[in-house]
Amino acid sequence: MRKKIVAGNWKMNTNLQSGIALASQINKLVKNLPDDSKTGIVIAPPFLHLSSVQGAIDNEKICLASQNCAAYPKGAYTGEISAKMLQSAGVKAVIIGHSERRAYFGETDETLSTKVDLCLENNLKPIFCCGEQLAERQSGNYFNIVQNQLLKGLFGLSPENFERVIIAYEPVWAIGTGVTASAEQAQEMHKFIRAIIADKYGSLIADDTTILYGGSCKPSNAKELFSQPDVDGGLIGGASLKAEDFIEIVKAI
Ligand code: 13P
Repeated sequence: MRKKIVAGNWKMNTNLQSGIALASQINKLVKNLPDDSKTGIVIAPPFLHLSSVQGAIDNEKICLASQNCAAYPKGAYTGEISAKMLQSAGVKAVIIGHSERRAYFGETDETLSTKVDLCLENNLKPIFCCGEQLAERQSGNYFNIVQNQLLKGLFGLSPENFERVIIAYEPVWAIGTGVTASAEQAQEMHKFIRAIIADKYGSLIADDTTILYGGSCKPSNAKELFSQPDVDGGLIGGASLKAEDFIEIVKAI
C-alpha cells in the first residue's frame, strides 16, 4: 500500500526564530493527531533552519526535508550544500527539481538526475517535482512535458532505486496563484504518471509510488483533491506556513 504524505515547502520564508516557532507549533499539533494516523508528515524549511528545526520536532513523527541539494558530492562549490551534509544534519528527504529551481536557477533535467543519484547514495528520499507551465497546458502539450521530465530526471534509475522516490506533480500555473488544478485535472495527470511508471517499472511499483499534488492546495480544497484515487497527498507552499492550516490539510487525507 503506497504511503499518503503531506509535505510543507516553506520556500524562502521565515527567519530562524519564526521558523523554529513554526516547527514547534506544527510539532505540538502533530502530537494531538490520532495515534493511528498513517499520513506521513514532511516539512522542508530553509537550509539555515534545518539543524535547529531538527531539535524542535519529534523526528519519529515529522520527516525533515530540505528544499534542494548540490549537484556535486563535495569540494570547491562555494555556497552549496551537499547531500552528505544534509544527511549528517538529520535530513531524511530532499525536494528536487521544484519548478522555481528549474525556472530561476536554470536547473536542467540532467542536473536533476545527478541530484537524485546523490540523494539516493546518501540515503535521502528524493521528492521529485514535475509539472507544466501555463502555455504548455493551454497548448495541450502537458502530458508530453511531464513525461519528458520523468524520463530524463528519474527513469534512468534501477527499479530498486525508483521505489525510494516520491513524485510531486505541481502544475506551474497553479503554484502560488490561488488557481488550483481541479480535482479532475489533478487525477488525470496523476493517473497518466502512474501509467508511464507502470510501462517502465511494472504495475506493482507503479501502485506503490506516492504521487503528491502541489499548487494552491489549502484546507478548503485539500479533501476534494486527496479524494482522487491517484492523488496520494500534497506538497504545500503558502498554506504550510500556518501550522493550523497545514495540519488541517494533513487531516484532509
Ligand atoms: P503553493 O501551495 O503556495 O501554491 O506552492 C506550491 C508549491 O510550490 C509547493 O512546492
